[in-house]
Amino acid sequence: MQEQLANILTEATAAAPAIAARPEFEAFKARIAGPNGTLTAAMKAMAAVPKEEKPAAGKLLNQTKGALEKLFAETLARIEQSEIAARLGPAIDPTLPSPDDFAGSLHPLTQVREEVVGVFRKLGFTVAEGPEIESEWYCFDALNTPDSHPARDMQDTLFMPRETRCADATKKGDEAYVLRSHTSSVQIRTMLKQQPPIRIIAPGRCFRRDTVDATHSANFHQIEGLWVDKQVTLRDLKSVLDAFVREMFGAGTEIRLRPSFFPFTEPSFEMDLKSPNLGRLSDRWLEVMGCGLVDPKVFENVGYDPEQWTGLAFGMGLERIAMLLHGIDDIRHFYANDLRFLRQFA
Ligand code: DAH
Repeated sequence: MQEQLANILTEATAAAPAIAARPEFEAFKARIAGPNGTLTAAMKAMAAVPKEEKPAAGKLLNQTKGALEKLFAETLARIEQSEIAARLGPAIDPTLPSPDDFAGSLHPLTQVREEVVGVFRKLGFTVAEGPEIESEWYCFDALNTPDSHPARDMQDTLFMPRETRCADATKKGDEAYVLRSHTSSVQIRTMLKQQPPIRIIAPGRCFRRDTVDATHSANFHQIEGLWVDKQVTLRDLKSVLDAFVREMFGAGTEIRLRPSFFPFTEPSFEMDLKSPNLGRLSDRWLEVMGCGLVDPKVFENVGYDPEQWTGLAFGMGLERIAMLLHGIDDIRHFYANDLRFLRQFA
């Protein structure tokens, strides 16, 4: 038996390289594995092998079968290759990449997100994440945004059907689930998970019931920032944002904080920037983010002692940053999958 199997394999291995076409290959395979093949005969002969020798013989049979299958596959692959080469003619090497091949590249929004994250990493921030489907509590209540606040109005926020359940439901029994309208919910998730000091940046996708036009999209991206520590002040806010805009928009970029209102910061500001590096936009102040010092109410909501902890927070639209940086005039370009647009960032 042993000898029989060894012979089958030796003969097959010797014959395979000479096989050049499919009919030959089929005949070769049939001579071994077909109904009257040599391997088939060996398999039948197993029945006559004495019981004590069966395990060893069986093992050898399986090994031989495996080796033959590999040989068949390799031989067939070689034949297929030569068929393709014959069809293409001698001038074409099918193993070379096509000259028309577009290797692909990161989407411009991904590129700008990575740039922003990179700048904040240098300032000691790490990346945090949260879900896109949020409970109302994380998205609003915990951020000191009462039921009556206009942001909770059906006009702005996309509500999930009542029967939908968020992975970790929070305390309000009758809570609705929403597609998060901002990344500020990640502030809450992070503070509930870890203790200060905290320095995080949270890039992510957000959703609003906006009518789509050149500057609005129902689906967009924000980058949130949160820094909680002892004695975080407005001076820290200003220096973090200063460092960010200079890295992102180049030397000579200035910022301006304008008093504003957000329920989760006190005081709150809109941050504008002016940069000599933005072409025809260089002469004006451009609004790019909301920011402020964390409202003590927010700390109470996550169980932090507001007497002990202070913080700064900010949130910006990623599309807006990318549009300013690259002189893009319509937000819809980001989602149109038009290669003429995308290739400019390859
Ligand atoms: N969440 C706000 C929005 O979507 C942006 C924002 C404002 C975030 C102030 C903040 C902040 O962290 O401090 O409009």
